[in-house]
Amino acid sequence: MNATQEQLKLKLTQALVAAFGTDYTNTDPILVSASNPKFGDYQANVALSLSKKLGKQPRIIATEIVNNLDVSDICEPPEIAGPGFINLKLQTSYLEAQLNAIQADSRLGIPTATTPQKQIVDFSSPNIAKEMHVGHLRSTIIGDSIARILEFCGHAVLRLNHVGDWGTQFGMLITYLREVYPEALTTANALDIGDLVSFYRKAKQRFDEDPIFQETSRQEVVRLQAGAEDTLHAWKLLCEQSRQEFQIIYDLLNVELVERGESFYNPLLPKVVADLETTGLLEENQGAKCVFLDGFTNREGNPLPLIVQKTDGGYNYATTDLAALRYRIQEDKAKRIVYVTDEGQSNHFSQFFQVARKANWIPEDVELVHVPFGLVLGEDGKKFKTRSGDTVRLRDLLDEAINRARADIESRLKEDERVETEEFIQNVAEVVGISAVKYADLSQNRTSSYVFSYDKMLSLKGNTAPYLLYAYVRIQGISRQGNIDFTNLGINRQILLKEDAELTLAKHLLQLDEVIKEVEQDLLPNRLCDYLYQLSDKFNKFYENCPVLKSEEPARTSRLMLCDLTAKTLKLGLSLLGIKVLERM
Ligand code: ARG
Repeated sequence: MNATQEQLKLKLTQALVAAFGTDYTNTDPILVSASNPKFGDYQANVALSLSKKLGKQPRIIATEIVNNLDVSDICEPPEIAGPGFINLKLQTSYLEAQLNAIQADSRLGIPTATTPQKQIVDFSSPNIAKEMHVGHLRSTIIGDSIARILEFCGHAVLRLNHVGDWGTQFGMLITYLREVYPEALTTANALDIGDLVSFYRKAKQRFDEDPIFQETSRQEVVRLQAGAEDTLHAWKLLCEQSRQEFQIIYDLLNVELVERGESFYNPLLPKVVADLETTGLLEENQGAKCVFLDGFTNREGNPLPLIVQKTDGGYNYATTDLAALRYRIQEDKAKRIVYVTDEGQSNHFSQFFQVARKANWIPEDVELVHVPFGLVLGEDGKKFKTRSGDTVRLRDLLDEAINRARADIESRLKEDERVETEEFIQNVAEVVGISAVKYADLSQNRTSSYVFSYDKMLSLKGNTAPYLLYAYVRIQGISRQGNIDFTNLGINRQILLKEDAELTLAKHLLQLDEVIKEVEQDLLPNRLCDYLYQLSDKFNKFYENCPVLKSEEPARTSRLMLCDLTAKTLKLGLSLLGIKVLERM
């Protein structure tokens, strides 16, 4: 709800109390957006819901409310429609004043949260020695956007990269490398991540086939956990190698993260198990320490426990998550912890959240949220793969998007006989390519799977990054064409709304704060994408219907201000999606 809606709600409540008494102080006036813009901007439906209680006809109730309602500084005189809806239409002068007030503000009038919080966003989180896959790409893009929005709302956000840097995979890998390529365990940069991944595959194969290898690997894990120097050194080298490769992706995507991998929590694991033991939640099951919860069953319908310590004494993914959760609450003092992973892990999250709650580890003022997302599919509707059926390397995927964006700009330049520097072309290609990938992901409701299509995401038409970037570029073009300095439009500048297209655009511009508040709550960045897409669309309609540079004053300056405010809104909104704008493209 934005500031205008809040004011209207308050005034409606006051009218309710004035009409029917203090019993109605907490009655919700049921203020919603108008079902049809013909009837105004908002409608209050409370009269219909009070009919029974008051023993009166809704229309009569509505009349009594309206008789006590003073919204003359915001709305046209309210109208009662149908069975008893109260229709409210914002005054043009009110809209103008609001726009004039926000256009000079760097936050565009959007307030920060009334109670700023420490919030953690746990996202990206790939696994060392394995390649980052499209699932991690989604987590990185969605998590980054969520973190940006929460930061903009004024929260202190800790962006945590919970990398999988511990566990049995290292035992196998180190054992295998000792045999075939020992230099990799002693010399920095002896391996390429590509090699690392293929070594890992081979190690895994050996592990599955060879019992002696299995045993040596297990011992290697024990040595690692005990801090044996050579193993620890090898482990560090392997992590460093992966880290460098991940960083290339983060740089390309312009995403910042603080790495705090699973290994960080390793010393805390025994205490997690011991504390669960004291709460009485632990059960021994075939030698493993487990927590059984109602409602979790496997495919056969048998109870599915959360295993916190395996028969061999080793700990699990969930044990680490429990330790991390406690640390984040106790040491980081987080009030909201957001985890961004594929929906395949939903069970894992609800299970360990529940265990932590049962153990009384979650104070009432701490909110835990799993933010799940669906799969990335190929154009054949199956899991996204390369032609040869391998998983797609993220670097290749991003490079391909940039190369295609480059081919596109080059052909447009040729067509228009425009000449640009190599630097310009490369920058446009990078911004467009990366934005297209990000936006294609963010614009979908994250819970659904989506089909990855370079052609679609790079298209200048439709709900795509290039379409939005182009709207921004178009506005910068107006300023260049008319030699306009948007930062200096004269002291008497005023936004004045006359035409329908101006009003429609104006109302939309004033809705950004509501959208941001929604995303802050439900963590669905696609709503912001929708908003920006609608904005570009409404701007384009305005631009088609209302001449800007060619119109007379004061309309000319007013329209220039609307253009500028649209551009600022696009730039801010896109920045919250992790997308940069271009002045020309
Ligand atoms: N490393 C995990 C994976 O690749 C994701 C970790 C998500 N974060 C967490 N706290 N469990 O699937």
